[in-house]
Amino acid sequence: MSFKHKDILSIAALSPEDVALILEAAEPFKEVSGREIKKVPALRGKTVVNLFFEPSTRTRTSFELAAKRLSADVINVSPSSSSVVKGETLLDTIRNVESMQTDVLVLRHSSAGAATTLARHVRSSVINAGDGWHEHPTQALLDLFTIQEKKGGIRGLQVAIVGDVAHSRVARSNIRALTKMGAHVRVAGPPTMIPPFLERLGVRVFHHLDEALSGVDVIITLRLQLERQGRSFFPSIREYSRLYGLTAERLQRAAKDALVMHPGPVNRGIEISHDVADSRSAVILDQVSNGVAVRMGLMYLLSQLH
Ligand code: CP
Repeated sequence: MSFKHKDILSIAALSPEDVALILEAAEPFKEVSGREIKKVPALRGKTVVNLFFEPSTRTRTSFELAAKRLSADVINVSPSSSSVVKGETLLDTIRNVESMQTDVLVLRHSSAGAATTLARHVRSSVINAGDGWHEHPTQALLDLFTIQEKKGGIRGLQVAIVGDVAHSRVARSNIRALTKMGAHVRVAGPPTMIPPFLERLGVRVFHHLDEALSGVDVIITLRLQLERQGRSFFPSIREYSRLYGLTAERLQRAAKDALVMHPGPVNRGIEISHDVADSRSAVILDQVSNGVAVRMGLMYLLSQLH
């Protein structure tokens, strides 16, 4: 089966076969990052542009490394030092960049749908690196890659996604990706942080964390996104942490070999305790490391269309 998509805008737009193909394509690229010379010629002559209109450590670095390890030319456009500050529109900025013959545009933006709008107006492939509260598809793909690597598969696993679901594009992408690939998904958080439509996506909703964690194989803890909250969703951070923070004691409720995941950046002592974040159950740095292989696999698949 070949990959037919020009762009990667959401998990919603991918079929289970597409997801399986991306995970399969990523596999050989994992070995490349372990070599002394971490380079293959797969994207030689191609140009990848990173356009991050929101802060990022993991995703931006990972896309840059992935493109460089594929031998692409990589440009990072920083909005604060670009002509965006002079009032140029996002579309004009990107059309000007594209006129220099780019092949892949990686966009992070605070507006939901920004990558989708852009993709309609450009010839280059567009990869959504996070758009507002909407989706963060490559995060979900690297999370699935990590689960598959550690658990040998995804189908049938019990996965709990815990915390600030309402503001989390990672949660939306992961719910879609995990259910598509046959996992059973539970979400847990305060009623004010669980959107009402969520059960329609095929997940079970819990408001008591201890119940949600019972026997699960994987726990995905979410960052409390204070910067996206216009009002208070719970009495205090201490209260939130007491009720929804993942501690070593709570982790005992999960399966003995449960994985603890977090997309980062981690608020230590709020959604996850220091000892759990650093425990043998935590695969947080494996997620980051696998992100490079998954983004290499994805850009390789997209490059086959150009
Ligand atoms: N997981 C993630 O998107 O992290 P960054 O915001 O650092 O890219």
